[in-house]
Amino acid sequence: MEDQRRMSARRKIIAGNWKMFKDARETSIFCESLRAVYKPDPRFEMVVCPPFTSISAAVYALAGTDIAVGGQNCGWETEGAFTGEVSPRMLLTSGCKYVILGHSERRQYFSESDQLIGKKVQLALSLGLLPIVCLGEKIDEREAGKTEEVVGRQFDGAFHSVDRTGFDKCVIAYEPVWAIGTGKTATPEMAEEVHRFIRGRSASRFGAESASEIRILYGGSMKPTNSGELLAEADIDGGLIGGASLDVGSFVEIAASAPRR
Ligand code: PGA
Repeated sequence: MEDQRRMSARRKIIAGNWKMFKDARETSIFCESLRAVYKPDPRFEMVVCPPFTSISAAVYALAGTDIAVGGQNCGWETEGAFTGEVSPRMLLTSGCKYVILGHSERRQYFSESDQLIGKKVQLALSLGLLPIVCLGEKIDEREAGKTEEVVGRQFDGAFHSVDRTGFDKCVIAYEPVWAIGTGKTATPEMAEEVHRFIRGRSASRFGAESASEIRILYGGSMKPTNSGELLAEADIDGGLIGGASLDVGSFVEIAASAPRR
């Protein structure tokens, strides 16, 4: 009963992480077809996170809907001499509501540290941009029994300088690195175990109320054939979807598989 109340208070988020796919024209086509089939649903909020150069096309095509737009990364300063960077303020004023931070591809290919991610989280929050903070272990870390140690360390780094009010605005995405783009999905039980751990960590750091309200998404080869059972878990509050979010049909199908409760 208590669990039931906790679950229903959290509106799910179905977010598409497009990575380096879809230019502005492809984005307009996608968003126009999405808005044609999309019906607002109290069960979930939809978010698309296109590459920087496609953000304005998405914002324009989705205007007047409640589908939100997010960036996939941002810089750690508001402005300055940082060639190639885009500041969270620029994302915000371009119409973004969210920003994905700490994605494992950023950690792996762009050497982003827990400390740097923490800085970005804090800056984004201070400007009013809502972070979707990614945490997740690699396969060797899981096999060595270090999942909680790794995810716990990433959690502490990302929220190092965040207070409770800031934390309450964040979304967390648990994305086991071995499941990203590999077709290997964590079983609902495996994912739920880590989600529960993250919620527990949230409770010890920010209190029980914040922990019961924070939304924790699952990411890693989520698709229409497995989303229903993942989204049915008590602590899984949505999905951060890569490959399957690039197609309007499968993205919408994933959203529709969110349980009715
Ligand atoms: P995937 O990617 O759904 O293609 O595995 C998820 C992500 O990287 O956010």
